[in-house]
Amino acid sequence: MKEGINLAEIDPIVIDQLDALLEGETNLMTIYANASALLADAITDNNWCGFYLLNTNTGELDLGPFQGKVACMHIKPGSGVVGTAFAAGESNLVPNVHEFPGHIACDAASNSEVVAPIKVAGKTIAILDIDSPSLNRFSDADQAVVVEFANHLGALLDTVATSTVH
Ligand code: SME
Repeated sequence: MKEGINLAEIDPIVIDQLDALLEGETNLMTIYANASALLADAITDNNWCGFYLLNTNTGELDLGPFQGKVACMHIKPGSGVVGTAFAAGESNLVPNVHEFPGHIACDAASNSEVVAPIKVAGKTIAILDIDSPSLNRFSDADQAVVVEFANHLGALLDTVATSTVH
């Protein structure tokens, strides 16, 4: 774990890195995979960083590419931090996950969490989820960076949505 860098300070470097890393890539899983690796490496004090992807056949959110311990594989809309963000179509900052009604404890080490929707053409297709073992890890400024990253990724995915394996 790296110390001393606030998430807000990595912006806009991480956005530029995302663009450079994924330029020309058309495989959605490849994009999600390296986006999760990029973020997990850039963000201090995180123990889980990845994506839950809308399964249009079941309506559930399925575990997608991530960095961290094994996690629950299916989340229903409205359930937990991830499902609630999906149902609302909005980001959420949870300073203490143990106080969040219905929180789904995938990694027992997680104490705070930030989520943001990935939207393509106005529809949420995935949730970006970042957990920390520290309480109150993420600031409002951090959340803004996560939202910006998610929005940027959504715009990028929009350009490749037709040539897809997902
Ligand atoms: N805590 C999330 C579940 C996903 S894990 O954190 C990776 C939730 O409550 O939805």
